[in-house]
Amino acid sequence: MHPFTRMTLIVSLILLSKKQHLGTAMNPRIIHKTMTSTAKPILGFSKLTKEEKITWLATTYFPNPKEAIALLTSYWNTDTTLQQLHDEFIENTISNLYMPLGVAPNFLINDTLFAIPMAIEESSVVAAASKAAKFWLPRGGFRATVLGTQKVGQVHFMYYGSEEKLTAFFKVLKPLLIAQTADLTQSMEKRGGGITAITLRNKTEELSNYYQLHCTFETKDAMGANFINSCLEAFADILKREAQAFSSFTAEEKNLEIVMSILSNYVPNCVVKASVSCAVNDLKLSKEISPKQCAEKIVRAVAIAKAEPYRAVTHNKGIMNGIDAVVLATGNDFRAIEAGAHAYAAKEGTYSSLTHAGIKNGIFTFWIEIPLALGTVGGLTKLHPLVQLNLALLQNPSAPELMKIIAVAGLAQNFAAVSSLVTTGIQKGHMRMHLLNILNQLEATKEEKITLTKLFSKQMVTHASVAGALNNLRNTL
Ligand code: MEV
Repeated sequence: MHPFTRMTLIVSLILLSKKQHLGTAMNPRIIHKTMTSTAKPILGFSKLTKEEKITWLATTYFPNPKEAIALLTSYWNTDTTLQQLHDEFIENTISNLYMPLGVAPNFLINDTLFAIPMAIEESSVVAAASKAAKFWLPRGGFRATVLGTQKVGQVHFMYYGSEEKLTAFFKVLKPLLIAQTADLTQSMEKRGGGITAITLRNKTEELSNYYQLHCTFETKDAMGANFINSCLEAFADILKREAQAFSSFTAEEKNLEIVMSILSNYVPNCVVKASVSCAVNDLKLSKEISPKQCAEKIVRAVAIAKAEPYRAVTHNKGIMNGIDAVVLATGNDFRAIEAGAHAYAAKEGTYSSLTHAGIKNGIFTFWIEIPLALGTVGGLTKLHPLVQLNLALLQNPSAPELMKIIAVAGLAQNFAAVSSLVTTGIQKGHMRMHLLNILNQLEATKEEKITLTKLFSKQMVTHASVAGALNNLRNTL
């Protein structure tokens, strides 16, 4: 197709789709239909403009391209500069996938009150966090302490030769690694951070000929991934070069092989502890069972999560509901946090609970210990306007302060889930929160939503019961 003709087609498709969209702005359009794909591989997709990418996708994969384009473009921000900022976060951006940003207020953490921003799609998470915050507010709130902020990175290499000679080489190498990366570490050192240790690790029992430079870092308020990876890649170059020049090595020993250099998302010494406690008699969570029974059931539920990996995974998933939502809202990397948290949960050799609970001398205590490698400077924290707003809402915390807030969000989430599970069960609350989603799926009008929300405040919510009630309502009008 002539480029001009193609451009005209794109522009008219987009204009047409925008017009269509305006007409149905209140009515979310759901595209169910796809066509049997006859797609051929495309070369140079990333070089196309955003409009060209969308047109190609829409005409290749959707029977009604206009409709697909309308939906994609309707999620573009009307502020083109802001949209461009989002487009440039990743490659091949075609639109934005919205996530609700909610707030859980009333979190008293180390005597300071916070309203915690949470970006999450699961209906009951913010409500559960808010409920837990409100419960602990008159009971002294949450306490949190950072136990360590050490980050980790490794240079993985294969070495074929005498271990004794490698150890002697490392003694010479180590000061060079520090000295020759001074330009990289200078500004981090000015902020009080830098390389804190470099050790040679013999991993040949795990894998023949495998060694590491195991390095630790302090990265202050930065998550530090770029800093750490830059240092590690520089270490790898120095290691390779100095090995070639080390006169005691044989030709084979000089030829050690660098496999890779990368930070580790397992940070067992970048850990925060958060806790709550109250008199057992004050654990009034249910009308059906006594505070003492509640406390004992929570302790037992945590013991089950410690003993049983099937339960531990779901128990920890509930914790991550709270953690990820705040991690995301503050522009941090939730995949890194997830990976590190689950590895920590398995640190004793079996996957176990990240939270703990106990009763001693009539006092109920519930706490979490979790590794959280976070940043409050750099990355998305500077770029994304809503992330900046969320950090401002949290009073612009340092990274250790954010560790405390996020650990508390995880603990609160787990407390809410476990206390529901051992009392009413979670479905009642969860389905009530899910009611609006069901009504939206059934395309209920604003008036129908008002009537049915009232009705279901006293009735059990299931998909079938809501559909039935909506049907009745429509038939009686
Ligand atoms: C649901 O997202 C999370 C829970 O399953 C957590 C739990 O079972 O502890 C409720």
